[in-house]
Amino acid sequence: MSMKRHSSPMRLAGRIVFVTGAASGIGGAIARRCVDEGASVICADQSEDAIVDLAKGLGSQALAVRCDVTDGHSMERAFETVRQRFGHLHGLVHNAAAPSLDGTVVDLSEEQWRREIDVSLTGAFLASKFALPLMPPNANAAVVFIASQLAHVATGKAVAYCAAKAGLVHLAKAMAVDHAADGIRVNSLSPGAVATPRLLQRFPDLGTADAALGPKHLLGRIAQPDEIAGTAAFLLSADASFITGTDLLVDGGYATR
Ligand SMILES: NC(=O)c1ccc[n+]([C@@H]2O[C@H](COP(=O)([O-])OP(=O)(O)OC[C@H]3O[C@@H](n4cnc5c(N)ncnc54)[C@H](O)[C@@H]3O)[C@@H](O)[C@H]2O)c1
Repeated sequence: MSMKRHSSPMRLAGRIVFVTGAASGIGGAIARRCVDEGASVICADQSEDAIVDLAKGLGSQALAVRCDVTDGHSMERAFETVRQRFGHLHGLVHNAAAPSLDGTVVDLSEEQWRREIDVSLTGAFLASKFALPLMPPNANAAVVFIASQLAHVATGKAVAYCAAKAGLVHLAKAMAVDHAADGIRVNSLSPGAVATPRLLQRFPDLGTADAALGPKHLLGRIAQPDEIAGTAAFLLSADASFITGTDLLVDGGYATR
């Protein structure tokens, strides 16, 4: 498995970015990358110890906020903390996802279905509902939803995940229409398989995950979290100032064939 080292341009200097699901894999990499590029980052997750540790490691530019993205009161409190501490916000990355416990429509429980939709889609709705009023107009504020290549092509026994991720891609488009007049850009980012703890729910180790999933990607390997984080930072930055209402596939060519 090869990994490209990033060099960090300071594309996000002075920006304030809220990242959900920051305690693990891709969310942690996005938080780190935003700090590296000059942003102050609110690391939001339900897993309190992990975000406190992450924020400590990132230093004074990071703030840990415990919240449950499925709970409106919890999200309102989290963004009130942002308002009191920073006054405004330039970026939202909704990255949290429920553990991958999926199935067919026949064997998936109603509770599992609701959990997936709640964390991915309702979480995006709630985070956006409280984030957007904190975004100054015409300041290149941006929202990024972390979707999946499985928003574009389906796979077996993943009905809730596929549906939730496709919903996120279209939610971004609908929001892009509503908020373009304020200069707020809304996009989604669809990774292929990425080496994170999430894959350990299905494979004994990341080497086995890469051997099984790598060949499904044109590039013959799974991604490293920082390869997704670099693209998220790009979408949040002025380099992406004319990009809104789109989905960016960062999937090593998975969805091409
Ligand atoms: N890893 C992959 O192969 C892959 C591929 C495509 C897309 N994605 C997407 O990228 C995103 C991040 O993936 P990952 O692999 O880093 O996931 P992960 O499972 O390692 O981390 C998810 C994080 O979300 C948090 N979370 C879950 N429910 C929450 C809730 N209700 N409130 C607050 N936080 C909550 C968890 O505590 C965890 O820290 C997800 O949206 C995932 O669907 C991942």
